[in-house]
Amino acid sequence: MKVAVFSTKSYDKDYLDQANADGQHELFYFEASLTNKTIKLTEGFHAVCVFVNDTLTREVIDSLAANGVKVIVLRCAGFNNVDIERATFWKIKVLRVPAYSPHAVAEHAVALIMTLNRKTHKAYSRVREGNFSIERLTGFEMDGKTVGIVGTGRIGSIFAGIMQGFGCHVLAHDAHLNKSLVDVGVEYVTLEDLFSKSDIISLHCPLTPDTHHMINSQSISLMKRGVMLINTSRGKLIDTDAAIDALKDGQIGYMGLDVYEQEENLFFKDLSEIVIRDDKISRLMTFPNVLITAHQAYFTDNALIQISQTTIQNLNDFVGNTIHLENEVTVDMIKA
Ligand code: NAI
Repeated sequence: MKVAVFSTKSYDKDYLDQANADGQHELFYFEASLTNKTIKLTEGFHAVCVFVNDTLTREVIDSLAANGVKVIVLRCAGFNNVDIERATFWKIKVLRVPAYSPHAVAEHAVALIMTLNRKTHKAYSRVREGNFSIERLTGFEMDGKTVGIVGTGRIGSIFAGIMQGFGCHVLAHDAHLNKSLVDVGVEYVTLEDLFSKSDIISLHCPLTPDTHHMINSQSISLMKRGVMLINTSRGKLIDTDAAIDALKDGQIGYMGLDVYEQEENLFFKDLSEIVIRDDKISRLMTFPNVLITAHQAYFTDNALIQISQTTIQNLNDFVGNTIHLENEVTVDMIKA
């Protein structure tokens, strides 16, 4: 199958080419993201392969249908960036990679927590400059802290286990109670209780209309003063303006982000020689207690292998006319 691969980085090409070593599919790589400005690139293709920051709005999907695209393969689990209803309307199949090393994301959340807590990023810079002072590097012990987890699916449940290993008391909130977590002492509570009782809050739920801006000025006001907030899920879960106000005020004591509301214009790009026009991220970067990584939580060798192999398998399934496409995203899944 002839596939237009968007938002390609060198590692995407390396791993996809390995997974497609038998040359079953003709992969054409584009560095550009798929948007209504780049839609012309899809002419002559029956398949497009996209990532988290490609924006497949209703207009983009209409143009894909007009160009004869039959299948969209996502190199990610989340599908909030694709208008699934519109794709269904045009009978364009959408396939995803439902899980790729959930350990990678859970472990990255822990890296954010421990860096913010023990300030190893600052210690590293100091020592390299010959400054061996430990003034203002005071951290806290994780043992005995209460950690609140919003969303205990694949990633959240692994994260819960790691936090328990640190000796933390784990609170969770999810519409679906995971009995195996309850059996090991995780306590399911209301969202309000989770916000008000947790020293550290980590978000592991998907972005949906319900979860959009779930962290806002009202929910932040319920939190313990000086709370640590970690988001490795999706940027739009947090109202950035409200978070900035709470950081200025001290209500949020630490914030670790692997995702950001306006990340489409920034992440995965080298902008080091360019003036950054996004004032919100610029403000966030000025806080000494904010740590930002550019959507790298998933970025491990294991995950890249899994993503590329599942992406090629999804294309194989589609070409093989598999009646039941195992990794298909359906309208029912949005409603659920
Ligand atoms: P999952 O589908 O296994 O688990 C998500 C859980 O969130 C489910 O248990 C669901 O019931 C729950 N949930 C849904 N709505 C909720 C709500 N309103 N309140 C509380 N819980 C709610 O998903 P998985 O694999 O654990 O991934 C979680 C999220 O992590 C993804 O949606 C994606 O946005 C993000 N992600 C981030 C990556 C990164 O590199 N930063 C990589 C992969 C995923």
